[in-house]
Amino acid sequence: MPATLYTSRLIVRLATQEDIPAIVAHLVENRDFLVPFEPIRPSDFYDRSYWRQQVIRSYQQFQAGHALRLFIFERDAPKVVIGSINFNNFIHYPFYCCSLGYSIAESKQGQGLMREALTVSIVHVFNAMNCHRIQANYMPRNQRSGNLLKSLGFTVEGEAKDYLLIHGVWEDHVLTSLTNLNWTTRI
Ligand SMILES: CC(C)(COP(=O)(O)OP(=O)(O)OC[C@H]1O[C@@H](n2cnc3c(N)ncnc32)[C@H](O)[C@@H]1OP(=O)(O)O)[C@@H](O)C(=O)NCCC(=O)NCCS
Repeated sequence: MPATLYTSRLIVRLATQEDIPAIVAHLVENRDFLVPFEPIRPSDFYDRSYWRQQVIRSYQQFQAGHALRLFIFERDAPKVVIGSINFNNFIHYPFYCCSLGYSIAESKQGQGLMREALTVSIVHVFNAMNCHRIQANYMPRNQRSGNLLKSLGFTVEGEAKDYLLIHGVWEDHVLTSLTNLNWTTRI
């Protein structure tokens, strides 16, 4: 499996078809927790059939260099999905940029697990995928996410009004980014 990343506590990787029951279980269990932070999902979002297509699509988009959609597993429970990290909208020459989104199970917050998963994922996107800039945006009231981005070195670049349609409402967002200072020309 390409793009399988390891940390002391975690495995962070692309999903396979075998992961679908665990993905759906994670999403159903955290539905009420995640809904306020996310766009309205399609009606079949919690169905295995939806994820069968998504897993294929994500793999194709990874191979084409358009996206990297990772799921997070704990090493001591490697079949249980505890979160996800999405690097979307890769733009190559001359921008070399992508957008980052992430979430972790409510019960797994406050242990530094997301920071650990993001740290290894960002290194991969910068070094293996030749990315120069990662953009990540958060709603001003989501201070937990803001703290996490700050701790990873993301810099605030401004605030955008009515930026993203979250749970059916146009929400302002704080715009942040992280630049790969070790980027070298690989055109
Ligand atoms: C945003 C979100 C991922 C943050 O998760 P988190 O658990 O707070 O993030 P981390 O895993 O990095 O944990 C950091 C916290 O754990 C604490 N912590 C405990 N043990 C730690 C360790 N070994 N290493 C680092 N931090 C540790 C830190 O003190 C820190 O808390 P603080 O910021 O209050 O000081 C999570 O709240 C979430 O999924 N929210 C819903 C979806 C969402 O908002 N997504 C982002 C949209 S922009």
